Amino acid sequence: MRVLTSALTLIPLCIPAALGGHLPGPAYPAPQDISSDSSRVGASWKNVTATLDQTLKGGGLGKLASAMLKNTTFSMGMFSVHDKDASSWQYHHTAPSTLNGTYGTKSVDADSIYRVASISKLITTYAGMVELHENDWNTPLTEIYPTFKDFVEKTAVDFDATRDIEWDKITVGDIAAHLGGIPRLGIPVSTDILLRSLANPAVLDAWGLPPLNQSEIMAQYPCLQNVESGKMECDVDDYVKGIASNLPRYQPAASPLYSDSGFFLLGGALANLTSMSLDDLYKKALFEPLGLNNTLSKPPSEPKDINRTVIAGTAELALQEIPITTPSGGIYSTINDLSKIGISILNSTLMSIDRTNRWLKPVTFTGDLRYALGRPWEIYRYEHKDSGVVTDIYTKLGDSGSYSGLLVLVPDFEIGFSILGASNGTVQAQAIQLIADTLTNSLMPALVNQGRQETLSNLAGTYKSKDKKLNTTLTVAVPSSSKSSPGLVITEWVSNSTDLKSLLAETLINQVPKLPPAKASPNLVRLVPTIQDTSGSGQIAFQMETVDPTGPIPGHLFTKMYSAGDWASTIDQLNYHDIPINEFVFNVDKKTGKAHSVTASAYNVELERQ
Ligand SMILES: *[C@@H]1O[C@H](CO)[C@@H](O)[C@H](O)[C@H]1NC(C)=O
Ligand SMILES: *[C@@H]1O[C@H](CO)[C@@H](O)[C@H](O)[C@H]1NC(C)=O
Ligand SMILES: *[C@@H]1O[C@H](CO)[C@@H](O)[C@H](O)[C@H]1NC(C)=O
Ligand SMILES: *[C@@H]1O[C@H](CO)[C@@H](O)[C@H](O)[C@H]1NC(C)=O
Ligand SMILES: *[C@@H]1O[C@H](CO)[C@@H](O)[C@H](O)[C@H]1NC(C)=O
Ligand SMILES: *[C@@H]1O[C@H](CO)[C@@H](O)[C@H](O)[C@H]1NC(C)=O
Ligand SMILES: *[C@@H]1O[C@H](CO)[C@@H](O)[C@H](O)[C@H]1NC(C)=O
Ligand SMILES: *[C@@H]1O[C@H](CO)[C@@H](O)[C@H](O)[C@H]1NC(C)=O
Ligand SMILES: *[C@@H]1O[C@H](CO)[C@@H](O)[C@H](O)[C@H]1NC(C)=O
Ligand SMILES: *[C@@H]1O[C@H](CO)[C@@H](O)[C@H](O)[C@H]1NC(C)=O
Ligand SMILES: *[C@@H]1O[C@H](CO)[C@@H](O)[C@H](O)[C@H]1NC(C)=O
Repeated sequence: MRVLTSALTLIPLCIPAALGGHLPGPAYPAPQDISSDSSRVGASWKNVTATLDQTLKGGGLGKLASAMLKNTTFSMGMFSVHDKDASSWQYHHTAPSTLNGTYGTKSVDADSIYRVASISKLITTYAGMVELHENDWNTPLTEIYPTFKDFVEKTAVDFDATRDIEWDKITVGDIAAHLGGIPRLGIPVSTDILLRSLANPAVLDAWGLPPLNQSEIMAQYPCLQNVESGKMECDVDDYVKGIASNLPRYQPAASPLYSDSGFFLLGGALANLTSMSLDDLYKKALFEPLGLNNTLSKPPSEPKDINRTVIAGTAELALQEIPITTPSGGIYSTINDLSKIGISILNSTLMSIDRTNRWLKPVTFTGDLRYALGRPWEIYRYEHKDSGVVTDIYTKLGDSGSYSGLLVLVPDFEIGFSILGASNGTVQAQAIQLIADTLTNSLMPALVNQGRQETLSNLAGTYKSKDKKLNTTLTVAVPSSSKSSPGLVITEWVSNSTDLKSLLAETLINQVPKLPPAKASPNLVRLVPTIQDTSGSGQIAFQMETVDPTGPIPGHLFTKMYSAGDWASTIDQLNYHDIPINEFVFNVDKKTGKAHSVTASAYNVELERQ
């Protein structure tokens, strides 16, 4: 047996950077080694923590960053589906001035309890994903809240699209994706100028606003009376009475508008559809199955919990409960528990893989190419500088008063991280976003590099027919440069003495008619993973994407569609007996991920790794 050196399989390629044509999804199987000393990802993590150390000493990311970080108490932690030890990568900083009250922890660690603010929205939706039937998400809000039904019936006679919210056309799924077109907060949980004017009528003059009839206002919003009397109680049905006649911001499902209000309604809807209290729903769906002992849907009240809680500012505010806001922003958790939540989503622990796949998709775009929205994922589209490959990052930001946080999942690499922070001002939000950028910009290239290295040792090499009489050989290599389009390159493909390398490349590339015809180099086709089942069947299927040699051209949206959109143009076109001619299935060791053979599907031949 011949031992391959990396020189044989790591091939330098001169292909211009930032090329389109990629299939969505990862270019390599998800890296398995995140935390060891030899992992590129580990080196990148150490670089980030060293940078944070320097920043906290006044250097690193600069003066402003230094002031922000110093004044923020925060905890950060990584997690990986494949590498349990990645969870031990944590970073904690205690800013004593933020934790200077009588109650709460004076030094943070991975079990410190933070208010997670709007990360609650994700946790609420996750509980719904686990417990609801797929069709429940299509339930209109009028079937849950009779007040909305009455309102729709009342306004049907004289309906006005700019004045009347069409509650019968807004579904439970719409509000989970901020697509209800409904108000952001709604009285009395907002900072509405009207509310401020109740305490200080001069506010109206400052804004040049007309006075309103107070008794009418009080009648319109049943919850307002509680707030007036100092109680923060607001029953969701009373809240609904106040918001029913509010103005629509958009028509249903038309355009995203961040809405806390939607999540108050979602909480009520989940309780209705599952016939459980929201607290019970969280427990049954998530907290108990995942062992989230430090995640609470009510403010910590036991002394042992309060002792571990991050109380920035006054305890009254930090531990304040406004029950209606719980599904939107009232959950408390730790980075250890957020890691468990993140891993369980990536690993489909609580629901089937198809449901996870459906959930980890955008539902709507935003006005920026780099950001999209799911339920209620805030999706960031990270573009790798060298290759132009896009990695979608599924996140949920939390930001409320003194508390901010982020839960971040990168499905392509099956890793994620969380950051929770607090300050006695509002500086923590920017601090956390800066930390997340620093980590992301360092991790992303490292993850691609680590994926490339593991693919080099696990999959690259020469594979030959067991039957020595059959002259069939496949050699796959990994591009050495991060500038090249990633994936596996075929450097040799002979089937039964027929050299197919160039024929395959030429045929695939010319699936998209080009004038003048593109020169078809085998370097322009790449094997990328399409179905990964390493721990199950021990198989990873690859198909080919083609690299568009000219890349994107401004003003050529239509003419570039086929070259940029392999999913529509080249994939699965060239078949034999309905089996893709460009499909290769690697048979790997379930534990190590190392290939021992590859099956060329259409050729019905298994080739042994040499
Ligand atoms: C982190 O990596 C960058 C890029 O390689 C380097 O410039 C920087 O000095 C490193 N920082 C630390 C603290 O190691
Ligand atoms: C950080 O806190 C100090 C006081 O502890 C204050 O003087 C400074 O302005 C704060 N910096 C920022 C960016 O908030
Ligand atoms: C992910 O799921 C697999 C299969 O269900 C399981 O064996 C594995 O332990 C899980 N990984 C983690 C990190 O929970
Ligand atoms: C904490 O508060 C006390 C009294 O309120 C004050 O004397 C002390 O300087 C504060 N410590 C910090 C680190 O801000
Ligand atoms: C306020 O509204 C109530 C009920 O509609 C009405 O009885 C009252 O006269 C109004 N007050 C003023 C000052 O307009
Ligand atoms: C859900 O709401 C509908 C409509 O208001 C109501 O008929 C039903 O009783 C509610 N179910 C639960 C479990 O609250
Ligand atoms: C959670 O608490 C229960 C009961 O106290 C305990 O049995 C379990 O081990 C705890 N789980 C974790 C992950 O801490
Ligand atoms: C909470 O912390 C205080 C101060 O460290 C300690 O005296 C007290 O015993 C702790 N209480 C509990 C229930 O852990
Ligand atoms: C935060 O606390 C520190 C120390 O107690 C104080 O100097 C600073 O002014 C506080 N900042 C805000 C915004 O309250
Ligand atoms: C290999 O090629 C020979 C000659 O063309 C042909 O007879 C034979 O069927 C082929 N075998 C396979 C396994 O493709
Ligand atoms: C296998 O086929 C290739 C391509 O046709 C040819 O170059 C090579 O000589 C053949 N090898 C053997 C051992 O027949």
